[in-house]
Amino acid sequence: MTVTALRSSVITFHQDPFLVDPASSYRFLEDGLVVMADGKIVAVDPYSEAAVDAASGIVGVPLTVTHYPDSVICAGFIDCHVHYPQTQMIGAFGEQLLEWLNKYTFIAEQQFADKSHADTVSRVFLRELLRAGTTTAAVYCTVHPESVDALFEESERFNTRMIAGKVLMDRHAPDALLDTAERGYDESKALLEKWHGRGRQLYCITPRFAASSTDDQLAAAARLWKEHPGTYMQTHLAENTGEIDWVRDLFPQRSSYLDVYDHAGLTGPRAIFGHAVHMDDVDFACCHRTGSALAHCPTSNLFLGSGLFKMSEAKHIDRPVRVGIGSDIGAGTSFSTLHTLNEAYKVSQMAQGRLTAAHAFYLATRGGAEALYLQDSLGSVAPGYDADLVVLDLAATPLIAFRMGFARDILEKLFVLMTLGDDRAVRATYVAGLPVYDSARDDPFIYPTQAPEPECPSQRLDPSGVRA
Ligand code: GUN
Ligand code: ZN
Repeated sequence: MTVTALRSSVITFHQDPFLVDPASSYRFLEDGLVVMADGKIVAVDPYSEAAVDAASGIVGVPLTVTHYPDSVICAGFIDCHVHYPQTQMIGAFGEQLLEWLNKYTFIAEQQFADKSHADTVSRVFLRELLRAGTTTAAVYCTVHPESVDALFEESERFNTRMIAGKVLMDRHAPDALLDTAERGYDESKALLEKWHGRGRQLYCITPRFAASSTDDQLAAAARLWKEHPGTYMQTHLAENTGEIDWVRDLFPQRSSYLDVYDHAGLTGPRAIFGHAVHMDDVDFACCHRTGSALAHCPTSNLFLGSGLFKMSEAKHIDRPVRVGIGSDIGAGTSFSTLHTLNEAYKVSQMAQGRLTAAHAFYLATRGGAEALYLQDSLGSVAPGYDADLVVLDLAATPLIAFRMGFARDILEKLFVLMTLGDDRAVRATYVAGLPVYDSARDDPFIYPTQAPEPECPSQRLDPSGVRA
């Protein structure tokens, strides 16, 4: 049995602060003890000698406690919308969505016909996620099945829970990136049968967006999704006004962009719609009614000039929609969820909203888990949950350390962290109870099979917190 115990401040969300009094949506422990055994959290209590003894009794072995002073532990971040093949083209200059796709994205994605290229980028991608404290993501691959194998193979090595799939496109892209409705169905089905539920991997049927799939392909995607309960469906929705006009021309019989997907059978639980910037009340009501989720991608929406997500309308108390946060690499500009939350705050300011730290950290953890219907196993630091955690450093930079001296409570500290923080604030990332990323190690990344026994000393072990 692998047992790990951590001592630090702990913050966790058990309710949606958009729907309840934010003060009652979370639990905060100033000095907490998190005990993990065999990949699960088994206890979360205020730290004390007695709590350590009690936890030792539960797991049946004496505990060694790794102490992270000046830190806060929260559930591993969840990125609800990201394109791993676009890691190589972050920061492509000057265009809005449709030009950007043609000029940069469709060029880069053609390289993923080569499995070794996909392997290389998958390695970089998973490490950037973990460096950012992200332990779960909904990931777009490319049209090539090899690109999916590469991503899941690397995720399997880290034992991360990834949700990913082959992009479906049967029109309006270079020939080298096109499949057909039938081929897309067959290849997705084969990948789904290979990967869905293998270890922690989950399959996501991925029609890129309405403009690049015919009616036939959308219908085939919906059929595959319905035939395999528990799988996911992800696509883009109402991101850019030029794109919306185009979709209206392509589907004149449909009442809205979302209606294209709804009519095709692509709304429902485990549907994840990226962006959803230009939505009206009917659209939000449809998402609420069908249980579909939205991925808010602020850095991307700003970078491509797409617009401002209407968070307060999405979370309207009368018909709240499940919303998570997405980096949308490579239109998004940072893997860091802290940085993404910083931009989400500014977008809310521009859209007459107010995203407190409680709302923001909820979105990045439990909100993402709810969007993905994984809230019973991910997104909270509580007994029974998967032990996917991030340890955030409250003194990560001289400025953050200085600023924290003037922060009066945990919410102020978290707000400073999301304003000033980035991957430098991620001290360690635990996946299924093991520190697969530790910024203090010479090689910060290790696969779980190589993970040191918890007794292994680290620069950050506090001798006073260590028990034999
Ligand atoms: N819409 C269709 N494809 C894409 C993509 O790759 N990125 C973004 N941001 N929007 C899209
Ligand atoms: Zn996207």
